[in-house]
Amino acid sequence: MLCASVVVFSIVICGSWSAEELKFPPSFMFGAASAAYQVEGAWNASDKGVSIWDKLLHDHPELVLDGTNGDVACDSYHQWRRDIEMCEELGLNMYRFSISWPRLLPSGFPNYISEDGKNYYNNLIDGLLEKGIQPLVTIYHFDLPQYLQDLGGWANPLVADWFQDYAEVVFSLYADRVKYWLTINEPMGICDGGYGKYSAPYFDDPEVGRYLCNKNVLLAHAKAYRIYEKLYKDQYHGKISLSTLFFWFKPFTPEDQEVTDLTIEHWEGRYAHAIYSKEGGWPPKLEKLLNDLAKKEGYKYPRLPPFTPEEVELVKGTYDYYALNHYTTRLVRRVKPGELPGKWFFDGSYEIGTIMFKDPLWDTTVADWFALYPEGLREQLHWLNSTYDLKEIVITENGVPSLDPGLVDTQRLEYYRDYLEQVLLAIQDGINVTGYNAWTLMDNFEWMGGYITKYGLYAVDFTCPNRTRTPRESARYFSAVTQSRMIRP
Ligand code: NOJ
Repeated sequence: MLCASVVVFSIVICGSWSAEELKFPPSFMFGAASAAYQVEGAWNASDKGVSIWDKLLHDHPELVLDGTNGDVACDSYHQWRRDIEMCEELGLNMYRFSISWPRLLPSGFPNYISEDGKNYYNNLIDGLLEKGIQPLVTIYHFDLPQYLQDLGGWANPLVADWFQDYAEVVFSLYADRVKYWLTINEPMGICDGGYGKYSAPYFDDPEVGRYLCNKNVLLAHAKAYRIYEKLYKDQYHGKISLSTLFFWFKPFTPEDQEVTDLTIEHWEGRYAHAIYSKEGGWPPKLEKLLNDLAKKEGYKYPRLPPFTPEEVELVKGTYDYYALNHYTTRLVRRVKPGELPGKWFFDGSYEIGTIMFKDPLWDTTVADWFALYPEGLREQLHWLNSTYDLKEIVITENGVPSLDPGLVDTQRLEYYRDYLEQVLLAIQDGINVTGYNAWTLMDNFEWMGGYITKYGLYAVDFTCPNRTRTPRESARYFSAVTQSRMIRP
């Protein structure tokens, strides 16, 4: 018997049942996720346009741990049948993949649609559906057409219209078969990463470009959502969201609760409050903090560009489910007098004046930022459930990195077992989690982590022309879970 005791808002969650006896409901969606640039390869096949990642890494291979890029990646552009077969082997009923904007619309604009691009995704969607696997399609996963970047990319307010036009093409082609959509994956990677020298386009503009981008991705998402709502919702009843990278944050001591709340607003609220909260717009405390900071630094404009009342209404409520990318948890504490805040600007340490760290009791992984604390996922699901009015939550990514290319991946297997256990417990608590997507189906191009960093249920032989895929121990475990619907099959 298990009695999980975790403090969430000072409520103690305590169940007297055992997660080992619990089963995922029959309708539960088990999936694995991937993204176009990370798996497709064929970077210049047919009439595909150049993306910001193609350009960045052709010009600057030194940015990637092993000097590689996604030119060939897992060659899924040619190996997609094998990808579907792997989903079948895993017993999945969902597969999350993304559409490459420059593959479908080489210039970024809808005046010309690539026939080959269109067919590639048609084949993939039809192939999945033939096997009873539901596609979860991400419309944008980091690979902006370079041409649009040259016109200002995500910092140009017009990008919201460009994205709406692109999304409209995607819906017109695939909405008859796709029921789960993500407009945009992890805006944090796009804005905080792209304007903070972490990901393409690799600008060093964390105080201006980052926040312009922040507002523009929200408008782009909302415009795409509204187009679907207007043209397709009544006919096809699909569900749309935007996936948010959300580490869970816990206060080191009760006194650190306030800075932890601000950290959550900085990390998640900047991309979620406008969509999911009742009042919409920026999270008020954070808005004040960031804008006061801008004033103090003599900057003429507020850091968070204000929304007009029409924009607040446009963005508010543009979700059918919450799409959560969860990886890990951190403790947060306020800096002591004279102490410098954390340097990892992503999490707002610098602006809020905090230090983030892992509890020494938590196990570690190969990545210093990544600690194992499965209970954090359940705590976070509770937080989401009580903070927003959510009908449904889908975990759109969850996984653990390693550097070991081998097939015996005990840490990954245990990670899935322990994190899935927390999902089961959350469902038992009454939270409507309807799906779980492992990151990732197979080893792929892990951005600046190259091919050295592995997240795959399947190992991929990157020396072999057809990129042979082989199941790891974690894949065998995962398929036993999908068959039995239990975490200890
Ligand atoms: C989030 C991103 O969506 C995905 O592209 C990335 O590979 C994983 N996290 C792991 O870092």
